[in-house]
Amino acid sequence: AASAEYEAENATISKGVVESNHAGYSGTGFVNYDNVAGSYVEFTVNSAQAGSARLDFRFANGTGANRPVDVTVNGTTATSNLAFPGTGDWTNWQVATTTVNLKAGANKVRAAATGAEGGPNLDKLTVTTGSGDSTPPT
Ligand code: GCU
Repeated sequence: AASAEYEAENATISKGVVESNHAGYSGTGFVNYDNVAGSYVEFTVNSAQAGSARLDFRFANGTGANRPVDVTVNGTTATSNLAFPGTGDWTNWQVATTTVNLKAGANKVRAAATGAEGGPNLDKLTVTTGSGDSTPPT
């Protein structure tokens, strides 16, 4: 398998802000989704070949309530309401996982909040493909 990491702070953000006030993130920060349904983070994921890919979203949720997101790939829903449950503290980071299909080349992977509280704090996305290579964007 091959893995590539995509920092949320480098992705396209709609209704969210990059912050760094809760320790334990990778890169230079994380995305704090606005507390509104439809807020999203969209990653451009390059895949060497078409096929299934595992998505690991690293996140923190310091509340007691789930902050689900719809995961879409190239505009089509791949996973509805992927759960981002409470992690106990905003500095406690965990991983939410789903598997999607990617096409060869560039893919738009969007994680859009479905609830009124928005998404979690999102640190990064790790994409793992089964047998081939996966190259991060420049
Ligand atoms: C707090 C926390 C933020 C978080 C926000 C939320 O303000 O400091 O990092 O994003 O709650 O509930 O979304």
